[in-house]
Amino acid sequence: MNILTSLSELRANLKYMSGSLGLVPTMGSLHEGHLSLVKAARMQNDNVAVSIFVNPIQFGPEEDLDIYPRNHDNDLDILQSEKVDIVWIPDVKEMYPDGYQTYVTVEKLSRYLEGARRPGHMRGVATIVTKLLIAFAPDRLYLGQKDAQQSCIIKRLVADLGFAIDVLICPTVRDIDGLALSSRNSRLNPDERKAAIVLYKSLSEAQTAFANGETDASRLRTLITDVIRIEKFAKLLYVSVSDINSLKELHYVSDRALCSIAVKIGSVVLIDNIVLEDS
Ligand code: PAJ
Repeated sequence: MNILTSLSELRANLKYMSGSLGLVPTMGSLHEGHLSLVKAARMQNDNVAVSIFVNPIQFGPEEDLDIYPRNHDNDLDILQSEKVDIVWIPDVKEMYPDGYQTYVTVEKLSRYLEGARRPGHMRGVATIVTKLLIAFAPDRLYLGQKDAQQSCIIKRLVADLGFAIDVLICPTVRDIDGLALSSRNSRLNPDERKAAIVLYKSLSEAQTAFANGETDASRLRTLITDVIRIEKFAKLLYVSVSDINSLKELHYVSDRALCSIAVKIGSVVLIDNIVLEDS
């Protein structure tokens, strides 16, 4: 496994690579969710690259950039055992040299959900992912459904900017009790960790209601709100039942919808989503 930091080293390495390349972009502190992407990439490509970069421009001034978990030694051990070929760990100056002023914005899709809650976040994500796609020129890019809006925006930018890359969205990996794995879960204390089950519980109840014929989006939103309200450690930041492609809020769910929530548990904001679909 080659562990690289500079862009010039990365370029030199990629020059001599033969066969297909799958890229998994991450911010590190790896868990089984990330690993599901790495495993999918390993199955489908001759070479697998993982980037680890806590991207400062996708964090707002009041957000958790400084305390975002970082655990490079453990990450590298895990990636080594998954037989990853290249790990790129650039520093901030490498990605954003002095005087940096070039950004990528996916206009409409960034206005909703996490984009509305975190101004500038989606611009930061779109910019770093574009830079990673230019640096690696992979054949396939692996993303998680856990960050549904992010994945939707990246698919859009790949199409809009004409990158010849297949984007693969992997299912959300959950803990045994349903909590979606996230690097931020490590910041929950034991009581908060128990309370965090409420995210999946509320989404599952919406899914059951939909399966039983509830198609009114506002009633589905209310149902989720009511489940979350009962949990005293939880504060609902938003609930959305939206079109899966445009992310616009729906009045009625005809065949499919993306149901997304952001919930603050203690001081940690967690997001989760589920796709409501006619079976
Ligand atoms: P990070 O939060 O580290 O996530 C990296 C990738 O892992 C993303 O595509 C995310 O959707 C996926 N992922 C996270 N938790 C998952 C889970 N429980 N199941 C399946 N996949 C999961 O997302 C980012 O980093 C950054 O925004 C990034 C795209 C790297 C740009 O900086």
